[in-house]
Amino acid sequence: MITEPRIRAQLAHTLREFDAPALGTLYRGKVRDNYSQDGRIVMVTTDRVSAFDHVLGTIPFKGEVLSRLTLFWFDKVKDIAPTHVLSSPDPSVMVVKRAQALPVEIVIRGYITGSLWRDYQAGKAGAYGIDWPAGLTRDQRLAAPIITPSTKAEYGKHDEPISEAEILRQGLVPKDVWTEATAVAHRLFARGQEWAHQRGLILVDTKYEMGIADGKLVVIDEIHTPDSSRYWVEASYAERFARGEEPEMLDKENIRQWLIKEHGFSGQGKPPPLSDDVRVMLAQKYMEAYERLTGETFESEPGSVDARIRKNLAAAGLL
Ligand SMILES: Nc1ncnc2c1ncn2[C@@H]1O[C@H](COP(=O)(O)OP(=O)(O)OP(=O)(O)O)[C@@H](O)[C@H]1O
Ligand SMILES: [Mg+2]
Repeated sequence: MITEPRIRAQLAHTLREFDAPALGTLYRGKVRDNYSQDGRIVMVTTDRVSAFDHVLGTIPFKGEVLSRLTLFWFDKVKDIAPTHVLSSPDPSVMVVKRAQALPVEIVIRGYITGSLWRDYQAGKAGAYGIDWPAGLTRDQRLAAPIITPSTKAEYGKHDEPISEAEILRQGLVPKDVWTEATAVAHRLFARGQEWAHQRGLILVDTKYEMGIADGKLVVIDEIHTPDSSRYWVEASYAERFARGEEPEMLDKENIRQWLIKEHGFSGQGKPPPLSDDVRVMLAQKYMEAYERLTGETFESEPGSVDARIRKNLAAAGLL
């Protein structure tokens, strides 16, 4: 792992935004700067971190960790479904095939935790169109993975739970596409859980985005990253669960907890600025997730991420 002094030195060089109008039409998401042109997107994963649908700041090496983990996972699941990746000219950049994105995020869960646990306790988990058994305990493993879809919300708004029946009734996704997409999600999740288990982690839940390109269903966006998934440390899960304690987490939940516990922020009003210490702590969590999942040491070129990307895009003939 990159040493703490080197992470600190990188605080001043993180990538907040990547401006390159020559790459096409910009769509700036919370985390990625997406340049579309001629059926392809140059997707730059910046170092921005978001929580509760707000962008909070940047984390050293985060964009690179997410982009490299997505490529790692896409390779692991390539026999299950086609993905949108065409090439990766820089460790933080993927060139992808532009798809017609389904307007629904496919969230799949192996455990009851987070927002689902809160909904379940508040008696609101029925919004997913699922009959939940009574008496579940927080962080308990579900008998089988369950899909809890949500609509894709605009900036500043929260994604809303939706049921399968409502997706089909509103015609958001055609029935045959939905059947295929959910089957693919189950296969991807099973593969992800199996790999994570071999690496001593639990893939607790995750979110897939899918779309249609050239008439075929493709997996788009990112996959099985610590931003789109929850990962728990397997070795300590059972004991902590038995004691009613929270599991050891290697995902974005760390920042949500910091916001709630240190600042009482859970999405309303203006988010607090991130201290350098928390930015360094989060960088370490992202790198740890990378190293645990891949079994490789995370290394990166220090210095300006912006300059490195420009150099690599120029070398690839894209800029
Ligand atoms: N192959 C693709 N074709 C079309 N759109 C894609 C593709 N892959 C990803 N996207 C979209 O590009 C965007 C990626 O940017 P990012 O992940 O930062 O957005 P987000 O903040 O999660 O979502 P948004 O801001 O759209 O709510 C998302 O809107 C995602 O749905
Ligand atoms: Mg996203």
